[in-house]
Formats: sequence, structure tokens, C-alpha cells
Amino acid sequence: MRIVLLGGPGSGKGTQAKKLTEKYRIPQISTGDIFRAAVKEGTPMGLKAKEYMDKGELVPDSVVVGVVEERLAKPDLNAGFMLDGFPRTLPQAEALDKIMQKMGKGIDHAILVDVPDEELMKRLTGRRTCRNSDCGKMYHVMFNPPKKEGVCDACGSELYQRADDSEATIRERLNVYAEQTAPLIDYYNKKGLLRQVAGVGPIENIFAALVKILG
Ligand code: AP5
Ligand code: MG
Ligand code: ZN
Repeated sequence: MRIVLLGGPGSGKGTQAKKLTEKYRIPQISTGDIFRAAVKEGTPMGLKAKEYMDKGELVPDSVVVGVVEERLAKPDLNAGFMLDGFPRTLPQAEALDKIMQKMGKGIDHAILVDVPDEELMKRLTGRRTCRNSDCGKMYHVMFNPPKKEGVCDACGSELYQRADDSEATIRERLNVYAEQTAPLIDYYNKKGLLRQVAGVGPIENIFAALVKILG
């Protein structure tokens, strides 16, 4: 099962990907998570990515595609994978098609998690993320609070607020999504791969809608 998750910043891609990978036992590949780990380690790639992430802009395609190509060459993907936050531009989508072609495989579904912009702003300003990168669970101070404030239910690590979750940066991320990523909806629709779920309402209901698509 090879899946692309599409959706604006804060639409719940990461939240749902974590639940789906548990159910279907396929890895979540989040380019955002890969870049945040590289920033934390202070690698050259991380330092380069940070310049863009802090402004809410996209990391250049050449950097992103290299990172994904490397990840997709690892041997743990026999059962498939779930791409979260990639592709995000048309050149990235075309690069993914080429990588798939070389692997002799294809994408099964590109699923759009559809959420209105006003809701996205509320979600991102209240998001808290687990600092333990092996866990990385997401919470929300109002919509999905942890049992104990500031502490991850799953692993007990500290929760933090992402650097790019300030109101001004969120606004830029929303603009970037509309301009550069939303065209992918049409791209996958034309290929007959686009599926769509309404991304508002309880997390469990959205999960059920995704499972219905995936079988
Ligand atoms: P990335 O990390 O991918 O961020 P994003 O796309 O902006 O998406 P988010 O992770 O913010 O949101 P999400 O959809 O995962 O939502 P979540 O589940 O957390 O990218 C960050 C940056 O890295 C980019 O800006 C760019 O610079 C760079 N980058 C990454 N990939 C790139 C690429 N391919 N090309 C170029 N640059 C790239 O949920 C959000 C909140 O809502 C949480 O608090 C959650 O608890 C809550 N929530 C979830 N579901 C619900 C619900 N149903 N009801 C209420 N609240 C909910
Ligand atoms: Mg995410
Ligand atoms: Zn955790």
C-alpha cells in the first residue's frame, strides 16, 4: 500500500498517519519530521532547511527530492509507505513518479484531508508535539489535550510548540500551500488516484473514513 497524504498545514496528516501506520504496519515518511530531526542534529542539510522552515517557505525541490529518494531506497518498504508532506510541488510529484517507475511500483492512493483555513489556524496555534522524535505524537491544548499538561501520554516526554507555529508563519504556510501544493489535487485527480475525506470532526471519525478508502 503506497499512499500520499495531501492537505494543508494542520489538516491532520501527521495525526492520521501515526494511526494508519499502526494499523497497516507501513512506515510514515514525513519530510517535515526528517527536516526537524536534521535541524535538531545541526547537520548541513538541517541548517539549510531551517532557513526556509522558519519563514514558512518550502525547502528547495532539489534538497527535498534527494532526501526522499534516499529514504525510499531503504529496505523496510516492502509492505508500502505513507508519504506525509511530500510531494508538495509539481516538480516533486513528477520526481516521485520517476522514483516509483524505477522501483517498478506505483502510488495507490493520493488522499486529500480537506479542512477550511480558519480551522487550520486554530489547530496550529494550539498544537503541541512530543519532543521524543521516535514518538512525535501531536496534541492540541483544546481539541486533543494530553492527560497531563505538557507531557506526552504515549511516552512521558515533554511537549513543545513548533517554531513555525506562530500566527505570521502559519499565514505564510497557508499561502504557500494554496499556491504551490493545492495544484497537486488536480495532478492526482487526472491520474485517477485522488481520494478525499472531510478533515473536520472527531479524529476517530476521520480515521474511520480513511480506513474505508484503504480497506
Ligand atoms: P510539515 O511538518 O509537513 O508541516 P505542514 O504540512 O505545515 O503540516 P503540519 O505538520 O503542520 O500539519 P499536519 O497536517 O501534520 O497536522 P497535525 O496532525 O500535526 O512541514 C514543515 C515545513 O518543512 C514546511 O513549511 C517546509 O518548510 C518544510 N517541508 C516539509 N516537507 C517539505 C516538502 N515536501 N517540500 C518543501 N518543504 C518541505 O495536526 C495539527 C493540529 O491539529 C494538532 O494539534 C492536532 O492535535 C490537531 N488535530 C488533528 N486532527 C484534528 C481534528 N480532527 N480536530 C481537531 N484538532 C485536530
Ligand atoms: Mg505534520
Ligand atoms: Zn511521546
